[in-house]
Amino acid sequence: METKNVKVKICAGTHCYLMGGAELQLFSEYLPNNIKEQVNVVGAACLGYCYAEDGCKPPFVQVNNHKIQQANIQSLLDLVKKELEINNE
Ligand code: FES
Repeated sequence: METKNVKVKICAGTHCYLMGGAELQLFSEYLPNNIKEQVNVVGAACLGYCYAEDGCKPPFVQVNNHKIQQANIQSLLDLVKKELEINNE
């Protein structure tokens, strides 16, 4: 069994879902085959970031310990690949 090296938690809370998170729920389908087995994608109830008053913008995703705001498929792919490079060193 192969170890998952990157955990992606996609917010499915109402605020994020309406602000672009709906497409993000399909993120695992965009993962290239060569890294798919190393990435664990899960949906999550509100991550709590939408309540921050620091100007953050939804949709939010957590990639390992990183909070991503205004996430989109490309920005997530870029960060996942970066995290895999770090984890595979
Ligand atoms: S609804 Fe996504 S962080 Fe709250």
